[in-house]
Amino acid sequence: MSDLGHVPWPPEPIRTERLVLREPEARDRTMFAELLASPEVHTYLGGPRPRDVLERELPEVPERWPGSFVVELDGAMIGHILLRRATEHRRPAAVGKADLGYLFLPTAWGHGYAAEACAAALGWFDATLPGEPVVLTTQSANVASMRLAAKLGFSEVERFHAWDAEQWLGMRLPAT
Ligand SMILES: CC(C)(COP(=O)(O)OP(=O)(O)OC[C@H]1O[C@@H](n2cnc3c(N)ncnc32)[C@H](O)[C@@H]1OP(=O)(O)O)[C@@H](O)C(=O)NCCC(=O)NCCS
Repeated sequence: MSDLGHVPWPPEPIRTERLVLREPEARDRTMFAELLASPEVHTYLGGPRPRDVLERELPEVPERWPGSFVVELDGAMIGHILLRRATEHRRPAAVGKADLGYLFLPTAWGHGYAAEACAAALGWFDATLPGEPVVLTTQSANVASMRLAAKLGFSEVERFHAWDAEQWLGMRLPAT
């Protein structure tokens, strides 16, 4: 994966009905550690990273690159949205395409925040790189993620086996 490269970055903070999407800042470091060390968040993502390693190794401003959005609710970080370029993907259909990822803190699940934030990030993407499809890979056992992908307009391309689990590759075609 690589970042989105030469796109205007950072954009002005994106405001939705309840949330703000913005580039990561130094004040987000603790919540990034929380997110990356959470076993619940990583149930379908290959397991969490040890907190002490994160505390040592996370940069002062984590995940600061074009296409990386912190999602904020009432001034506090609740999630991270990643729009990257799938330069090396296991499935040829995804290679070179923009790829959506999302991680939210368990306390923020079940309120529609992920759907609201991802829709806004995809709106930014459509305006920034018009005409490009977006792909998404998730374990098919990750029911919440599968539901979210469907809500966001992703359709199944194929299922494949990797990382000891069945994976779902979805694609969202550009608006015509
Ligand atoms: C995947 C993940 C982001 C989904 O989060 P989520 O909170 O379940 O997703 P949504 O924002 O779509 O909210 C879902 C629920 O909120 C409920 N909800 C409550 N209030 C709502 C509101 N005002 N508006 C919309 N939905 C609302 C909905 O009923 C919805 O449930 P449904 O899908 O059964 O209908 C979350 O489980 C997560 O971070 N998982 C760990 C990371 C991960 O596995 N990422 C996937 C790999 S990229």
